[in-house]
Order: sequence, then C-alpha cells, then structure tokens
Amino acid sequence: MTERCEQARILVVDDSAPTLEVLQRNLSAEGHQVFTALDVASAVALLEDSPVDLVITDLKMPRVGGMDLVRHVRENFRDTEVMMITGYPSIEGAVQAIKTGAEEYLAKPFTDGELSAAVQRALDKLRIRKSNVTSGAQPPMMRHGLLGESEAMRKVLQAVSKAASASAVVLISGESGTGKELVARAIHYGSARASAPFVPVNCGGIPDSLLESELFGHVKGAFTGATESRAGFFHTADGGTIFLDEVSETSASMQVKLLRVLQDKEVFMVGSSRSRKVDVRILAATNKDLLALVKKGIFRKDLFYRLNVITIALPPLRDRDDDILLLANHFARRFAEELGRSQPRFSEQAMTVLKNYDWPGNVRELENVIQRLVLMTDGDIIHVPDLPPLMRFSALRSTGLNRSLTEVEAEHIRNVLASVGGNKTRAAEILGIDRKTLREKLRHPLAGREHSPES
Ligand SMILES: Nc1ncnc2c1ncn2[C@@H]1O[C@H](COP(=O)(O)OP(=O)(O)OP(=O)(O)O)[C@@H](O)[C@H]1O
Ligand SMILES: [Mg+2]
Repeated sequence: MTERCEQARILVVDDSAPTLEVLQRNLSAEGHQVFTALDVASAVALLEDSPVDLVITDLKMPRVGGMDLVRHVRENFRDTEVMMITGYPSIEGAVQAIKTGAEEYLAKPFTDGELSAAVQRALDKLRIRKSNVTSGAQPPMMRHGLLGESEAMRKVLQAVSKAASASAVVLISGESGTGKELVARAIHYGSARASAPFVPVNCGGIPDSLLESELFGHVKGAFTGATESRAGFFHTADGGTIFLDEVSETSASMQVKLLRVLQDKEVFMVGSSRSRKVDVRILAATNKDLLALVKKGIFRKDLFYRLNVITIALPPLRDRDDDILLLANHFARRFAEELGRSQPRFSEQAMTVLKNYDWPGNVRELENVIQRLVLMTDGDIIHVPDLPPLMRFSALRSTGLNRSLTEVEAEHIRNVLASVGGNKTRAAEILGIDRKTLREKLRHPLAGREHSPES
C-alpha cells in the first residue's frame, strides 16, 4: 500500500502466457490488482463480472483481435481505459488503435519504466475523465442504450447480460416507463439472434379478435375479409425474438394459445389445422403483478410458470436515486444536441428537487420533463422555478423542505408527548429541556395542534 502509486484494477489480455506473466508481475509489484485473460472471449466474460479501470491488450491474437476488444470496451464501459500493446509496431496500427479508442499505445519490446509510465498516463486520463462526470464516483454503465449506475440497475444490467447469452423465456416486470421495452431490446440485440428481427407486440393494445391472426397469421378464407393468406408476428420473428408486451392483458383463450406455442414451439395459422414449427425466442413484459393475477384466477398459472423462467424486475425510478441525475443529464445532452444548442446544467436546488420527486411515470416521465425543459428554458442553467409546478410542490412535501424549524420542533414535541402518554415530566426529560420550557413551547399554536396521523 504505497501512497505515491495509484492503485487500479487492470486486465491484461495476451495470447502469450509468458508475456502475461511478466506484465502481471510488474503491475502487481506496483500495487495494482491484476487480472489476466489469454483471449478476447475470456476477457469479455471477465469484464461482465467485474469492470476494471484499465485494459491492456495485445493487438494480434488468434480468432478475435485486440482491436475488437478495444471497440467492445469503448462501447460498453465508459470508465475503462484501454492500452494497446503490439509486437508489430506500425504507424497505421497506432493510428487505428487510437481511433478505435485505445488511450495508449505501446510497442514491444518495452522497458518496465515505459510500461509503468504508460499505465500511469492512462490512469491519469481516467481520473480526469471521472472527475468531469457530474454525479457519483461509481462508473456509469450503458448497454444498448440502457443507462444506470445505481446498485439496482447494475443488477438489472447483469441480468440482461445473462439473459442475452441464454435462450430461455424472460419475464420483465416493472411499473410503467421503467424501461421494460428497452431491456427487451437489449436482450435481443445482445443475443445470438441479434441479426434476426425483434418484433414487439402490444397485447393490451390489439383487440382479442385481431390479436390471434396478428400473432399467428391466417389462411385465405379464414374469416370474412381474409382474401389472402397472411403471415403473423411469429413468422416474421422466425430466428429472432418476439416481445409480448402487457402480456397480462391477454384473454383466457389467448393465454391457452400462447401456452401451446411455448410448449410445442409451433403455431397454427387462423383457419388452418396444420401447425408450423417456429424458432422464436419469447420475451414478455408486464406492469402488473402477474402472480397476484394468478391468485385471483385472471391469469393462467401454467402460463405464468412457462413465462417466468428468467425474471427481470425493473425498480421504479424513485428507488434509484443514483440514476436520476445521470439520466437527467443524459437526456439533457441528447435533446440539446437535437436542437443544436449547448447542454443546460441543473442548479444544486433543482437537482435536489429532481432527486426527491416521486416520478410516478418513471424514466419516461423524466425524459419528457427534460425534453420540455430543454425546449423551454433559455439559460444555461435550469433553476427550480423552471421545473413543472407539480414536481416542485410534491418534492417539497415529501422532503419537508418547506417546513420551518418551529414546525419541525413542534412536531417532534407532539410525537414525544404521544409516546409517553402525555406525561410532561417524561417528555421534558427525553427532550432535554425543563418542564417550564416545555410548557412554553406547548403554548405555541403549532405545538398545540392535534397529533395528525401522517406526521
Ligand atoms: N435505463 C435507461 N436508460 C436510458 N433510457 C431509458 C432507461 N430506461 C428507460 N429509458 C427510456 O425511457 C422511456 C420508457 O422506456 P420503456 O418504453 O422501455 O418503458 P416501459 O417499461 O416499456 O414502459 P410502459 O410500461 O409504459 O410500456 C424510453 O424512451 C426509454 O428509452
Ligand atoms: Mg413498454
């Protein structure tokens, strides 16, 4: 534990075991925590489990090369620096490495001192970059547009990665606007099915009579108006993923049909008695508590268990304090870019209000609020009065930031008195004041008020 040396988590990737060993020895001696991987695939797996500060990778490796790893890190880990090492020094290689996002470039053979200096430079850049990020010391993570650095979102992001590498059914639950569809897309585009279609179906928005033919298709003459055979969403999604949004809204008869697809992996077109095999991965979402609906007999138990193989529960935004400002700044940047103006900042108080608001509409509400703010505010800083009134007032209510000291004191006195059954001597003892002072304070109009149930 030396003070002069900044300790970092470093991942070294090289297909030569002796090189790995040398690098590991040198870097560990400097106090760094060193991980090693012999190829890009295991490096990527390692990063999924524990992000690092710096990746040092060889350029030329069999199968997947270092450049692809650089790209992967740049796209997925904002707070990880990359350094490229190569035994084939060339200007083009260096230029390409830097362009892809490698921070440093080191040509073999290099001395211990050169290595140490390059590592320090990369870590310095990382520190500067991190200190420019307005919120939190933890690295934010972004996968396929899913942003979040709260503990809850980290877990979600991990679950998304796991789900992407599996082929099982996934049930995504969460309040409206928490990002269920975004998670579904992230799973699909992170999976082996990424190049095949992702087909979202809003089960709640399509009348039951139509939903069946939309999902499974119909043959010519199946019903009045069916002048042509038409494929359904399940055929369109062949090889890819179907996303059954608001799956709780499906009727009892539709639930039976979905159960059959899940069991047999085959669909019947409306009007046809011949089934057809489909290779479709099913993701489903609900903003209702499906299990509660099962208990009420509204949702089929067997279908619930078929859907509930992997579950991802998205926490409401009010439970992810660490994400609110991160998302607010993210949306502010995006909308400002769209309008070709500079990104507005939030004043300290505005940030407090944003953090304390309840966000019943979750991320979608935040996105809409920020869009309106970027459109409507002229200045570079967004102040509390710029925020929608509803938000300002409800935030003040929930934090009590509009209460005076006298009010807070009065409430505390009332609570203490109530807790000792109105015994003034006991109450004065607990409050650390004498009985006379207590009597005076009780004469204050606020203290005399009835003990209200919500206080
Ligand atoms: N973690 C996140 N990072 C960035 N953007 C997000 C995140 N979560 C949600 N969003 C954005 O918020 C909006 C709402 O997300 P989405 O449509 O996925 O929510 P939902 O849970 O499907 O909502 P609903 O139940 O109303 O259908 C989208 O514009 C989405 O891009
Ligand atoms: Mg949705």
